[in-house]
Amino acid sequence: MRKIRLSLIAALSADGFISRGRGVPWHLPADQAFFRRVLAAHEWLLVGAQTFAEMQGCFGSAQQVLVLGQRALPSWAGPQCLAVASVTEAMERVAAACGQELLCLGGAMTYAAALPLASQLWLTRVDAALGSGLAFPPLGADWQRQSSRPHAADAQHAHAMNFEHWIRET
Ligand SMILES: NC(=O)c1ccc[n+]([C@@H]2O[C@H](COP(=O)([O-])OP(=O)(O)OC[C@H]3O[C@@H](n4cnc5c(N)ncnc54)[C@H](OP(=O)(O)O)[C@@H]3O)[C@@H](O)[C@H]2O)c1
Repeated sequence: MRKIRLSLIAALSADGFISRGRGVPWHLPADQAFFRRVLAAHEWLLVGAQTFAEMQGCFGSAQQVLVLGQRALPSWAGPQCLAVASVTEAMERVAAACGQELLCLGGAMTYAAALPLASQLWLTRVDAALGSGLAFPPLGADWQRQSSRPHAADAQHAHAMNFEHWIRET
């Protein structure tokens, strides 16, 4: 298989959770704007079936959305949405179509399956503790943080954040 880059984007709490169980547990417009910018810059997307079910209206018609799981796609899913059975199958499809990069949008089960094959992370660290919920998988020592950009709490943001970019050799 031709090599492609697998990237993940996630927002996680200070104690490592992405959700209390369903949905994103904070309202942070600067993070939403960052997510939309990264999303719009990618043609190929990988998303778990549960997260996909929550994302109606988020995808452009030119984007190819690979949905990880066995279940039938919701009725609103367009022709550019396709179910895949594994992260490897998703990467093979991107490579076969001469794509360069696949962006994984989560959720927790999907991050866990994708992280071992990934070489780039866009992480928003939210300065809030959830205590429990769906965890982002732990990063190995081979991951290196390339940059970190703080965003303070303010009237629109109940929590401070750090926008981090991580890479590793694969
Ligand atoms: N904070 C954030 O950045 C962030 C980002 C994304 C999502 N979230 C939140 O996370 C929650 C969902 O996370 P989740 O873990 O429950 O669901 P998910 O990863 O979105 O989807 C889970 C489903 O994906 C399929 N799947 C996952 N791993 C698989 C594998 N290795 N092989 C084959 N299929 C696989 C299965 O679908 P089938 O059951 O169809 O087989 C599974 O039920 C959402 O509520 C969402 O709001 C937060």
